[in-house]
Amino acid sequence: MLLAVVLAGCDQNVTRVSGAERFEDAPPIKVDPAARPLAGAPGLSGDATGMDGKVPPFVKVFFMHQFVEALYSVPKNKHPNPKWQSPLKDPDNGRVWCTDCHGDKFDFAKMPKQRFPQVDMLEKDHDFMVDLMTKWVARLNSDDYGAKAKLKGPVQCTTCHETDPRDQ
Ligand code: HEC
Ligand code: HEC
Repeated sequence: MLLAVVLAGCDQNVTRVSGAERFEDAPPIKVDPAARPLAGAPGLSGDATGMDGKVPPFVKVFFMHQFVEALYSVPKNKHPNPKWQSPLKDPDNGRVWCTDCHGDKFDFAKMPKQRFPQVDMLEKDHDFMVDLMTKWVARLNSDDYGAKAKLKGPVQCTTCHETDPRDQ
């Protein structure tokens, strides 16, 4: 009986932290409870790269969230543009969302922002970041995807960075 009381007391002191960041105003996402898009992805611990030397897709999810947020709030890169302004026509109600670039290829409801150990390494990997960002910005500005219509005009590296990181 005493033990039960102690355990109950302990439980009350546990702070339940959710690592997930939600976009309340994101468009509704169709959730298929059976879908586990990135289940079985290699490299959950250890190296940033999987067995085949590629960065496992689930690690990129963190960066994707960072980039999407940088369209409506001050970017969290090392040297953000001091005069940063949101490139979105409507930063409150017209945000870019995963589906603008990926359609319904993934189950985004199951991809909260999560910092895996590999992220620390990749953030410092200049070539990886330049490559990922170059592809991301290209799709953002592309006529073939839905994000462009939400922008005031084309986005460049210096929209978010004080200087073009490719020159470093
Ligand atoms: C502006 C367009 C854009 C948006 C918005 C975007 N992505 Fe991406 N995403 C890309 C591009 C481009 C790549 C390919 C990068 C590469 O292969 O190196 C990618 C890659 C990925 C990958 C890795 C896929 C693989 O096969 O390696 C995942 C997972 C992903 N995105 C999830 C998300 C999530 C989750 C969101 C929303 C928080 C999101 N993306 C928003 C453009 C976008
Ligand atoms: C919409 C805003 C945005 C744009 C546009 C953008 N970046 Fe970034 N960039 C970020 C954010 C946010 C991070 C931080 C990611 C992290 O470390 O979690 C980042 C990080 C980086 C880094 C790692 C060093 C650092 O400053 O944190 C490099 C290198 C980089 N970006 C290159 C580029 C290049 C090259 C372009 C243009 C092709 C570009 N970025 C365009 C938001 C942006």
